[in-house]
Amino acid sequence: MTLIVGLTGGIATGKSTVTKMFQSVDIPVIETDKIARELLKKGTEGYEEVVSSFSRSILLTNDEINRKKLATIVFGNPQRRNTLNEIVHPRVESIVRTEIQKHKELGTKIIVLDVPLLFETGFIDLVDKTVVVYTTFKKQKERLMERERIDKEYAELKISSQIPLNRKVDLADYVIDNSTSILNTRKEFNEVLKQIEVLEWD
Ligand SMILES: Nc1ncnc2c1ncn2[C@@H]1O[C@H](COP(=O)(O)OP(=O)(O)OP(=O)(O)O)[C@@H](O)[C@H]1O
Ligand SMILES: [Mg+2]
Repeated sequence: MTLIVGLTGGIATGKSTVTKMFQSVDIPVIETDKIARELLKKGTEGYEEVVSSFSRSILLTNDEINRKKLATIVFGNPQRRNTLNEIVHPRVESIVRTEIQKHKELGTKIIVLDVPLLFETGFIDLVDKTVVVYTTFKKQKERLMERERIDKEYAELKISSQIPLNRKVDLADYVIDNSTSILNTRKEFNEVLKQIEVLEWD
C-alpha cells in the first residue's frame, strides 16, 4: 500500500533541499508550504478571509498578500497567529487528505509530506514514518540570515520560537544530516531512502 513519510526539521534546516531529492527519484512530495501559499493568492476564499481579518494594510501594491508582513505580524502575536492558522490549516489539511487519497487509489508506493511543523500539528497522525532534516545551530542561523537577509538576533529569535531541533531528532524515525555539503546530504538521503524502500507497508 502507500507509505506516507513525514518530512520535517527546523526553519531553514534543509526540508526543501531534501524534498527536491525525493522528487528527483520520482517520489511525490506534498509540500504544505506551497499549498498554503497557493491558498492565499488573490481571488481565493482564503485570500478574502485573510484580508477581512487583517485589513488591506497587509497587501502589496498589486493587491497580493504581503507574506513577509503577515509573517511578521503573526510572529509576535499568538492571537493573530491563531486567526491566520484557523483560516489556513483546515484548508491545507483538506487538500493534503485529498492528495493522499489520490495516491492511495493510484497505488503509489511511497509519498512524502513536507510539513515544517509536523510534530507540532495534527499532521503527525497522517504519517507512517518521520524524517528530520538536521543541521547545526550555527549553520541553521547562517543560512537563515543569508536567505532572509535578517540579522543574527532576529534569526536566533525565529529559531528559538520553535521546538528545539534536537527534540525533533529524538522523535524522528530517520535523520538526514544537512550540516555539511549537499553532496554529503545526498549520501545521507540515499541511505535513508534504501531503508524506507524496503519497508513492508499496508
Ligand atoms: N548543505 C547545504 N549547504 C549550503 N547551503 C544549504 C545547504 N542546504 C540548504 N542550504 C541553503 O539553506 C537555505 C535553507 O534551505 P531549505 O530552503 O532547503 O530549508 P527549509 O528547511 O526548506 O527552509 P524553510 O524552513 O524556510 O522551509 C537555502 O537557502 C538553501 O539553499
Ligand atoms: Mg522549505
